[in-house]
Amino acid sequence: MQIFMDSANVKAIRDAVEHGLIDGVTTNPSLIAKEGGDFRGVIEQICRIVPGPVSVEVVGTTSEQMMTEGREIAKIADNVVVKIPMLKEGLRAVRELNQEGIRVNVTLIFSAAQALLAAKAGATYVSPFVGRLDDIAHVGMDIIRDIVAIYENYGLPAQVLAASIRHPVHFVEAALAGAHVVTIPPSVLEQLVKHPLTDIGLERFLADWKKVPQGIFGPNR
Ligand code: G3P
Repeated sequence: MQIFMDSANVKAIRDAVEHGLIDGVTTNPSLIAKEGGDFRGVIEQICRIVPGPVSVEVVGTTSEQMMTEGREIAKIADNVVVKIPMLKEGLRAVRELNQEGIRVNVTLIFSAAQALLAAKAGATYVSPFVGRLDDIAHVGMDIIRDIVAIYENYGLPAQVLAASIRHPVHFVEAALAGAHVVTIPPSVLEQLVKHPLTDIGLERFLADWKKVPQGIFGPNR
């Protein structure tokens, strides 16, 4: 399973890349707005830092607007993936952009039916929003399981990118469900690394180590 960072925060992205923790990045208009700064400049910087795919969303709502913006976004860097919202107009844009060799991530997916249509249109990634379904009393993870099964049934090459991941249990469940990619905010990445028993165990080892007179580099202080 690939891990993407769901953020436009250059500092957090750089830190995760330097530690070898992420394979790509996803952004959306809200995440870009949160960081401030010039859109193109931020995206160019992220694309230079991240070796893998960086999803960048269009804001047009007609297929013409989405195709024009998508072509422009695709020129920013070789690793850009154009993010298109799940609309009827959007599916037309997905088909066209895919035929032009531009990779597309279809976003705002809330049902397996939408995911099947997006895959048939030629999406490289589809992004079901798990947390936002949980927010309205649905089990968001169920659609990840359904989409993975449907794509397997028909040998569809689209990758399931579990999005709107809010906590470590979502992350593990998405992996168990067979999601190809999970995109997580920086806060969840920090939570995944940490475990209180790791901290307690390390503290104990280091305290005991002080009782050993000679270490690798000479006497222990
Ligand atoms: O990038 C889209 C998605 O991950 C947003 O998550 O937490 O705003 O529902 P959230």
